[in-house]
Amino acid sequence: MTDSLFTEIDHVAIAVNDLDAAVRWYKDAFGASVVHRELVESDGVEEALIAVADSYVQLLMPTSETSPVARYLAQRGEGLHHVGYRVKDCSEALAAVKRMGARVIDEEPRPGSRGTTVAFVHPKTAFGTLIELVQE
Ligand code: CO
Repeated sequence: MTDSLFTEIDHVAIAVNDLDAAVRWYKDAFGASVVHRELVESDGVEEALIAVADSYVQLLMPTSETSPVARYLAQRGEGLHHVGYRVKDCSEALAAVKRMGARVIDEEPRPGSRGTTVAFVHPKTAFGTLIELVQE
């Protein structure tokens, strides 16, 4: 069995302090415009998605001081926050990574933005990258 569970890069997420400023910068620099914007209360973030072919750049701004993205910005500043890999079945992909002994943030898949189903894998056992498994 050599088939990858990944079907696409879903998004590359970038943590920013000022979402409007970041959106404007991407527009001015690259002519890239936002195709979706959403306040994700459960994660304490507002996101703006810029389409790149079938993937997205996800600009992420915290909406509360207790959100993990706020802590990330305080500790490390703006920049690459996580990579979202699109999968056919989030449960299946999460089970596979757990079988590898990987540390996970979500023990079970949960609702993400855009009506997706997602689960996060901890960077500690994933070579330093926070991974989000995204099922559309
Ligand atoms: Co994400």
